Amino acid sequence: MKSLKYALAAAALLIAVPAAQAQTVKIGLLLTFSGPAASLGDLMKKSVDLYVKQHEKDLPPGTKVEIVVRDETGPNPETTKRLAQELITRERVNFLAGFTYTPNAMAVAPLATEAKVPMIVMNAGTSAIVRQSPYIARTSFTMWQSGYPLGQWAAKQQGIKKGYTAVADYAPGHDIENSFKRGFTEAGGEMIGEVRMPVLAPDYTPFMQRIKDAKPDVLCVFVPAGKQATALMKAYMDLGMAQAGIKLIGPGDITPDEELPNMGDIPSGIITTMHHYSAAGNRPANKAFVDSWKAAYGADSSPGFMAVGAWDGMAAIYHAIKEQKGKIDPDKTMELLKGWKNPNSPRGPITIDADTRDIVQNEYLRRLDRVGGKLANVEVETIEQVRDPWVRFNPPK
Ligand code: PHB
Repeated sequence: MKSLKYALAAAALLIAVPAAQAQTVKIGLLLTFSGPAASLGDLMKKSVDLYVKQHEKDLPPGTKVEIVVRDETGPNPETTKRLAQELITRERVNFLAGFTYTPNAMAVAPLATEAKVPMIVMNAGTSAIVRQSPYIARTSFTMWQSGYPLGQWAAKQQGIKKGYTAVADYAPGHDIENSFKRGFTEAGGEMIGEVRMPVLAPDYTPFMQRIKDAKPDVLCVFVPAGKQATALMKAYMDLGMAQAGIKLIGPGDITPDEELPNMGDIPSGIITTMHHYSAAGNRPANKAFVDSWKAAYGADSSPGFMAVGAWDGMAAIYHAIKEQKGKIDPDKTMELLKGWKNPNSPRGPITIDADTRDIVQNEYLRRLDRVGGKLANVEVETIEQVRDPWVRFNPPK
């Protein structure tokens, strides 16, 4: 009897050892791969794949990473919530990541809290998102990080008097409207109009025509990056708004690096944007990133800010995996993410703020210019280590 007990115990040990050594960390990746904004998911997934390939060797011995991909299908909170639920209960993912659009991230936040699954926001940019769950950390940006300093710059440095905003009518658009307005008017500018446009409008001409007639000195626009940005640029150019003396400015979403080759013949120097990343950035870490991107996806392909949000999101996840030697505890993970720094992101130094779990990063003022005959967001000024200004104006209750 005794020897049978020992034999069973020994057998259990034999089975248990290899199982304990080989462990898989599962990441549920929710991105948009279909509909009018399908190119965005493709860009971010490519970045995740490149990161995984380059950093496989950094994982603790016996640890594997499995990416389980699902299609948000656009700004579609119901679908994203259902998919996240399935990733949590059926796939038992250790992380939820991705989130192209704000409404999708908002819909999933309560699930992250309930199931205690760390949720890494790699794109969505509305300030309020990180407050929706203690299990959220963000590696993308906030709209206020670019909109507020852009408003200040326009009024203070450019001496521009009359401003107008045109934004996609949902939360990140409202954040740009409010942040630009606040920065611009605090620095002495005057708002003469604002318009909200459908989120995925096929054509912006009617909106731009109205704005042209109102004759502002500057127009600050937000549309979600991708094909929307190209459609916006087409309306601005076709209506001759630059010639009419209306400067176009906005967050980098209106000139995403990967869309620039599709934007046609935009003259140098007429469009200025504020953002945290440009593929044309001179940092060695960025050059290495862009070179490896081109080697993997072709010389004409370019990463943009969404690719970098995904890249740094993976870096944050890998940090948590390495520190825990592959055994993921959600609360320990959040502790590890709070205050995490990467001095060498392609975008420059970044930190996940320990209190807000939101990203702190440089903002670059960029002029859309031609470099080697191709359009590029050329960085001309740097504002170092910007915290989300929204938090200052909306302290936690
Ligand atoms: C968002 O929904 O938060 C969002 C989407 C696309 C962008 C920026 C923000 O370019």
